[in-house]
Amino acid sequence: MIAHIIWFAIISQVYGKFDPIAFTVGQPQQSAEHFSGNSTITYPIVITIHNPTANISNGIFTCSRDGIYKFKVFGCSATYGHFILDLYKNSAALATLYGHVNGANVAASNTVIVQLKLGDTVKVKSKTSVPVSLYNSGLKENTFTGVQLGSQPLYSGDHAVIAFSATSNHHQNVVGDAIVQYHTQLVDDRGVLDLSTGVFTARSSGYYVLHFSSTSMQNEELWLDLWANKDHVERYICSIYAFVDFEWASAGNTVIVHLASGEQVAVFSRSGHVSRLFGSSDYQFTSFSGTQIISDDDLSNPDAEPVVIFSVGLSKNATVSSGASILFDTIFVDLKRSYNKNTGVFVVPVTGIYEFHFHCLSRADSNLNLALYRSNRAVVGFYNIRNAAHSFSAGNAAVLELTGGETISIKADDYNYLLGAPNEVYCTFSGYMLHSTGPIVIG
Ligand SMILES: *[C@@H]1O[C@H](CO)[C@@H](O)[C@H](O)[C@H]1NC(C)=O
Ligand SMILES: *[C@@H]1O[C@H](CO)[C@@H](O)[C@H](O)[C@H]1NC(C)=O
Ligand SMILES: *[C@@H]1O[C@H](CO)[C@@H](O)[C@H](O)[C@H]1NC(C)=O
Repeated sequence: MIAHIIWFAIISQVYGKFDPIAFTVGQPQQSAEHFSGNSTITYPIVITIHNPTANISNGIFTCSRDGIYKFKVFGCSATYGHFILDLYKNSAALATLYGHVNGANVAASNTVIVQLKLGDTVKVKSKTSVPVSLYNSGLKENTFTGVQLGSQPLYSGDHAVIAFSATSNHHQNVVGDAIVQYHTQLVDDRGVLDLSTGVFTARSSGYYVLHFSSTSMQNEELWLDLWANKDHVERYICSIYAFVDFEWASAGNTVIVHLASGEQVAVFSRSGHVSRLFGSSDYQFTSFSGTQIISDDDLSNPDAEPVVIFSVGLSKNATVSSGASILFDTIFVDLKRSYNKNTGVFVVPVTGIYEFHFHCLSRADSNLNLALYRSNRAVVGFYNIRNAAHSFSAGNAAVLELTGGETISIKADDYNYLLGAPNEVYCTFSGYMLHSTGPIVIG
């Protein structure tokens, strides 16, 4: 008994509760931000900064703790402006995002996971000789989020983070039912994403957060579906769609799912449709990244930190009027039963640091005018994203320090007509706790 207590004390001390570096920064409200070519994009508005020691308001994140980190950037073009932005690690451009439609605001995002050492920097830059114009309403469209990855493997004895992230630097014509390919591995601790097939295989069962994005060739369509496959039983998860006349069109999505050991996940082109994806060494739009949030072994450990994970989607068309919350009807995961389908509201069950993502697709000629609300205050969102001829997508993400009992939902700021069907889930809302800082209040 004494030996048991000592052993437990040592384990607790060695592993402790994982408290990551995490931040979301944005740009001033009601502003058009112009940057000349070869500029570092600045994000002077702090939404959350948890643990970083260096000041990131100049737009440069400097690593103060070795580790694996996820970075997510959202951009929104000014009505008659455009943006091409690259996410950099030190002097290397890793991933690109692009947005432009004359006469409209359009959004795009990208996500990467990279290993950083003390002193490494991550930033967002415009391309040499290509000025950009970014639009910010009151909803904070342009954001830069970073999160150190980790978990609390008390008993599995396995301290490594399972993470993969890859991008494509090739044009691809992906025919219906074929898998999107990736060419540059940014991080892969365990050889879990096979670049020769584009397939990720879960090596241990648990909950995984998955991110994928892409950009079409000019005047072409992209329609991509995320599928899981376990023992030849296929499971559809969610999709992205983009098409803009005479333009390059971008879309991305984020979802959290449970994967069994050996289960495989890949991004396919929609059956019967060719997705023509833009890619070159300077334009790495197509990416697929993911990480295990927690393994089933650690989840079943009674001494573990409380685990909060939810991820929901919309599997039907929905009209959302001003002030209303989106009622996501498909539950991918909701460990603490903290998301209410009838109200669309996630009630924070444990005080802590959380990461949230949402993405939506509108019907052609409908506004996309949505924001992530904390109680009655919009935190991040997008305003008046619109494409007269085709559906269009937008999203955003934020790290937030929340108190148990607070509410988070995705609300409309104007009338929105959102698209969904059982095999067409474009609108998603996901979140998970990175670290608890207070007691459980619910559940
Ligand atoms: C771009 O800016 C960096 C400094 O941020 C500078 O070192 C580099 O020479 C510039 N490149 C060009 C082509 O101007
Ligand atoms: C960060 O830098 C900005 C501009 O350089 C400065 O205005 C701000 O006070 C700094 N914030 C902190 C917390 O040091
Ligand atoms: C959802 O909206 C799309 C676009 O307007 C339409 O094609 C589709 O038939 C709608 N689905 C249902 C079930 O009404």
